[in-house]
Amino acid sequence: MILGIETSCDETSVALLDRDGSVRVNLIASQIERHQPFGGVVPEIASREHLQHLFPLVSRALADGRASWKDIEQIAVTSGPGLIGALLVGVAGAQGLSFGLGIPIIPVNHLEGHIFSPYLQREGAAIPLPDRFVTVLISGGHSSIYDVRGSSATMLNRTRDDAIGETFDKVAKFIGLPYPGGPQIEKHAREGRADRERFPFPVPKFRDESLDFSYSGIKAGAIRLARENQVHVSSDPRVLADFSATFQDALFAQLFDRLDSIWTRLDGPRPTEVGVAGGVAANGVLRERIVAWGERQQVVVRLPEKVYCTDNAAMIAFAGLQKQESAIDPRRVVTRSRIA
Ligand code: KG4
Ligand code: ZN
Repeated sequence: MILGIETSCDETSVALLDRDGSVRVNLIASQIERHQPFGGVVPEIASREHLQHLFPLVSRALADGRASWKDIEQIAVTSGPGLIGALLVGVAGAQGLSFGLGIPIIPVNHLEGHIFSPYLQREGAAIPLPDRFVTVLISGGHSSIYDVRGSSATMLNRTRDDAIGETFDKVAKFIGLPYPGGPQIEKHAREGRADRERFPFPVPKFRDESLDFSYSGIKAGAIRLARENQVHVSSDPRVLADFSATFQDALFAQLFDRLDSIWTRLDGPRPTEVGVAGGVAANGVLRERIVAWGERQQVVVRLPEKVYCTDNAAMIAFAGLQKQESAIDPRRVVTRSRIA
């Protein structure tokens, strides 16, 4: 079995996976209530919370997974990017376990965790990875499209400013909706109808034909339009619903504009599958649209289970399974530092 540890932000998560990618246990301790009074994640509080929760979660994972220490063959841990103090708690904890148990540790990039997450299943073995696939990673901190071959992911574009989830959150906050804003906007959008005349949001293009995302224009435009049209949670619900539908449409229109262009520019053997990942991949409208896109392109679409969209250790352990070549023997690390 592989033990996964994720502590990059405000969720302490521990998972146990079998070698075939079956998730035996995936425990998540969210700290959201501890940070809410401050209106955002306080790094120092996050680190201290991880310190309190990490080992109790490991013990519970073993109990819930009916496993013992000797069943664990490897440890995969998020080594970045994230809050430095928070990451250190996970990495130091994993190093201690790795040294104590004499088993290898696999450092995992948090984004790679998300990238492979559409292949995890709620029950049973993971879906086999194709030779080449594309993942659209859309979260509160990231908006990028990746080309994945084997265990190596190449970033094809990125956002030049705000991430898509961040844009949902900031605009939602401006119109008086609680955090996180994405699900709130989705809920109101469901009651409305896109009105592009009243709420125009052009798809931004770059002069250099770059396929990067840029969401700051939509954010600024949405805030101006909300002010001019008195869009607020405490005013006319019809206007709020139509605004939400149009704003959400604009965010996704840009996403598909870039995906279409990237798709036609890819060279070599065609990717056979497309996945979405990250918190925004939980959005129902996006899920429907990407499935329709896949039908048009005749490509298989992989939608992650909603529990694997947001931060979790199962996806870290699964990415670790793909990265066996990065495994570090704890005793070799000691030798290396002595030579240095
Ligand atoms: O991946 P995630 O949990 O955290 C990181 O950013 O790493 O993503 C959180 C983001 C938030 O911006 C939240 O508003 C967005 O995902 N989100 C959604 C939905 N559910 C969560 N955005 C749109 N529609 C949703 N249903
Ligand atoms: Zn994440």
